[in-house]
Amino acid sequence: MEKPYLRLEGITKTFSGVAANSGVSLSISKGEVHALLGENGAGKSTLMKILYGFYQPDSGRISIDGAAAEISSPDDARKLGIGMVFQKFMLIPAFTVWENILLGLKERGIFLDRAAVAEKIREVGERYGLWVDPDARVGRLSIGEQQRTEIVRLLLGGAKIVILDEPTSALAPPEVEGLFGVIRKLKQDGQTILFITHKLKEVKAVADRITVLRRGMVVGTVRKETTTDNELVQMMLGDRGVASDVFSRTNGSSPKVPCLELREIDVAAVEGRPGLKGASLTIEPGEIFGIAGVAGNGQVELGEVILGFRPVQSGRMFFQEIDITGWSTRKRMEEGFSYIPEDPLLMGVAPRLTVQENMILNDRSKYLRWGGPLGIKQSAVRQKVQEQIDAVGFSLPQLDRLASGLSGGIFRGSSSPVSWPARPNWSLPFAPPAEWTLAPPGLRTIC
Ligand SMILES: Nc1ncnc2c1ncn2[C@@H]1O[C@H](COP(=O)(O)OP(=O)(O)O)[C@@H](O)[C@H]1O
Ligand SMILES: [Mg+2]
Repeated sequence: MEKPYLRLEGITKTFSGVAANSGVSLSISKGEVHALLGENGAGKSTLMKILYGFYQPDSGRISIDGAAAEISSPDDARKLGIGMVFQKFMLIPAFTVWENILLGLKERGIFLDRAAVAEKIREVGERYGLWVDPDARVGRLSIGEQQRTEIVRLLLGGAKIVILDEPTSALAPPEVEGLFGVIRKLKQDGQTILFITHKLKEVKAVADRITVLRRGMVVGTVRKETTTDNELVQMMLGDRGVASDVFSRTNGSSPKVPCLELREIDVAAVEGRPGLKGASLTIEPGEIFGIAGVAGNGQVELGEVILGFRPVQSGRMFFQEIDITGWSTRKRMEEGFSYIPEDPLLMGVAPRLTVQENMILNDRSKYLRWGGPLGIKQSAVRQKVQEQIDAVGFSLPQLDRLASGLSGGIFRGSSSPVSWPARPNWSLPFAPPAEWTLAPPGLRTIC
């Protein structure tokens, strides 16, 4: 066992009653790539934000090379050689790469002018395969280039411990390979990497050791060579195991009627968003149907067409062989169509409603007492929500929390930097119509 270089001991962090981390202990060796693996909400980002000084833990200690580390701010962390690339990048789009990098280094006073900074950027680029044009405007760069800029900025700031929070989530496959190449070179050079992910394949590709978090607690730390995918899945999901009911429905006799069929669907491109041309597909009952492609090539639009909020120019759509091309979104949802969009806080939930209220938005007429404005039937709502939770088999944050405080929103995983104004004292009868706030009505089997 290598000597621990970085130690986190007994870290606990609670957000308004929800334990994001409970008694988390973790030892990291110098020069290793250590993956933090866990489902959404497992507490990975919170733990790393504590290490980076972004949050203060309620209790627990951190030490580096045997010495206690006092980390009260990201600035303290940077001085100790800790750098973090957040899920949402922190660069200023209107500035160039070198200006952004200089800004990050200002207090150190190492660099003075463009030429010196640009030279350093090129050096680091050569060394680690982190190529980026110092004079490019950040807002014009691809996600991959912005990410490289962030990593260059950390390295020039003297980072020896590099934390990457879900770094592959917005990258195309070749960019992911590029990033893994960078991580391997950083490791060869003696850097210590903490890599947050929920994807097993990535862990297998780059990590030396893997710590699995579940519900804010460490389940265990394993070496990559001596573990299996099954073991990792079991650690991530616990007694829910692998073969959940939801995933085993595909085995059955061969179905006769397709669940959903698109025939030659054309959709116009509008306002810089792509359209669809001759989109045809058939989805069988019980099937999990994947759509692959780089972001911005019509995936979002395809989802919107299926849900009926994008007009179709030509082509037809069938649900269990019924032509639904002209159906409204409302009618489709009544038939059991639901939609989890890529930006849940922007599109899927009403941020200023509670988790519980969001859960019943689509069915709210059922819960309104006679005369609507009198309020909603709280007991019926609670019962319904509990049934849904039991059915899908995963836990939810406290039901009375506002949706805006949850992880996995617009600012993927970070707590939202938008401060929503205090919620006025109204409740569901005045909530926006369901078409604006498409909270999934729980997972329903529709065919
Ligand atoms: N700033 C915050 N305010 C309230 N709750 C939070 C905040 N940040 C995280 N949480 C909650 O803590 C838990 C862990 O979140 P997070 O650390 O983001 O998980 P992960 O990164 O593993 O997806 C979640 O239940 C999340 O809703
Ligand atoms: Mg996260």
